[in-house]
Amino acid sequence: MISQDLYILAIESSCDDTSAAVLHHRRTLSNVVATQRIHEEYGGVVPELASRAHQQNIVPLVYRALAEANIDKKQLSAIAFTRGPGLLGSLLVGTSFAKSLSLGLGIPLIEVNHMEAHILSHFIEAPGKTPPPFPFLALTISGGHTQLVLVKDYFDMKILGETLDDAVGEAFDKSAKLLGLPYPGGPLIDRYASQGDPGRFTFPIPKVPGLDFSFSGLKTSILYFLQRESAHDPEFVEKQRDHICASIQATIVEILMRKLKKAVAQTGVHHVAIAGGVAANSGIRKALAAAEKDLGWVTYVPPFEYCTDNAGMIGIVGYLKYLDGRFTDYRVSARARYQIGS
Ligand code: KG4
Ligand code: ZN
Repeated sequence: MISQDLYILAIESSCDDTSAAVLHHRRTLSNVVATQRIHEEYGGVVPELASRAHQQNIVPLVYRALAEANIDKKQLSAIAFTRGPGLLGSLLVGTSFAKSLSLGLGIPLIEVNHMEAHILSHFIEAPGKTPPPFPFLALTISGGHTQLVLVKDYFDMKILGETLDDAVGEAFDKSAKLLGLPYPGGPLIDRYASQGDPGRFTFPIPKVPGLDFSFSGLKTSILYFLQRESAHDPEFVEKQRDHICASIQATIVEILMRKLKKAVAQTGVHHVAIAGGVAANSGIRKALAAAEKDLGWVTYVPPFEYCTDNAGMIGIVGYLKYLDGRFTDYRVSARARYQIGS
């Protein structure tokens, strides 16, 4: 039993957001994120630019996180960092920084799997939120990942299914690009979809066995659809934008919900949590609310600040691992590929 106050400094640098957070037990005292705008002009994340930006951001961000938390670095109990999965160059920045600071301060180092962190973000204390009970199903939907996981305990998770090609966020962003929208286009599709008719256009639902997902076929069918319609009417996209967005969003939500329903039927677990940037999508939120009402599920959606990549979710895993004495050796290296439970 830990009696002293625990303060965890957490660092996240797996993709294009640099983030630092300070947690006091399960509560975030600060959670600051520097979003790298430089990638917008390229229509996607450029790995080399991302790692350079992490290098520039990391020291000032850690200072800001400590200042906002009103904590001196000497009070820290441990440093948690994202070991993987992600872009290797980006991960290296956070990993090296965390190792040196933990050595310098003489406090434990704790490695965190980014995908476990998305799921365990539900255990950060948040007003009006109750964490899901074990076992629960977790659907992690972000720009880099789509994963359906059975969570039996904090560190006992089983992947039931994942995407065979594009991630859900990529499906949103690539569809948006086809519509001429800027990167990342997911939030824009969501916004335009709210003014459109989801039944106006129909896109195929891929037939993927088991609990795996596929989104690359959808992207291709949208491309052909837009080419066909624009050949008749060059202003088609402009005139129909809201309806196209609503129809794309409805198709993506339908793909996700079908697999979730299958997973609930297979496991008998009806506590369903979502995580990751796409968890901000209003279509998926509405579909989950309907499943609560119609199917008796209990659903969990994290507050927005813990959906997108952030160090708060790394910190909660750091805290839970600290309680378990799961510390990390200094010889640890970053892992671009890093499966949950491996
Ligand atoms: O978790 P996240 O911040 O970063 C990754 O780890 O990828 O997720 C970013 C992804 C992007 O693809 C973005 O378009 C998508 O989440 N996204 C959304 C919405 N908000 C963010 N997609 C659909 N609707 C939204 N409201
Ligand atoms: Zn993520």
